[in-house]
Amino acid sequence: MPGARLVMLFAMGFAYASLSIAASDPGRGAAVFNGTCIACHGSDGSGSLPGVPDMTGRTGLLSQDDAVLLKRMAEGFQSPGSPMAMPPRGGNPALTDADLRSVLNYMRKEFKIAP
Ligand code: HEC
Repeated sequence: MPGARLVMLFAMGFAYASLSIAASDPGRGAAVFNGTCIACHGSDGSGSLPGVPDMTGRTGLLSQDDAVLLKRMAEGFQSPGSPMAMPPRGGNPALTDADLRSVLNYMRKEFKIAP
């Protein structure tokens, strides 16, 4: 089954790429975002699915305190009346607290328009 072999090669390449990215720390936030968060939040942070909020902008969600955001990212979060919940650690239990800190820094830099 050539199809299955292709899928496996792809999966192995992906695992290798993730490992080499994890080893280089400065890109960790980007790697976490692109690996886990981008599916719902979109490459520009404005949300790619209905029910996912726009996180961009200087006074937006990312302007909240670190403690608030890190807790919501780690434990999951659903605001009242929201059609969809943010899953704990974006649904990736392998992410460490340091990973969440890195991805928060990354999102602030990328999506929060500097004052
Ligand atoms: C399955 C879709 C999904 C994935 C994957 C996901 N999120 Fe979310 N996220 C959401 C939704 C939906 C909300 C809004 C929840 C609400 O307000 O009820 C949200 C909200 C947030 C918020 C705003 C919290 C607030 O105070 O309003 C942050 C920050 C966030 N996500 C970060 C992340 C990070 C970082 C990742 C990757 C590690 C991630 N998300 C992965 C769906 C997702």
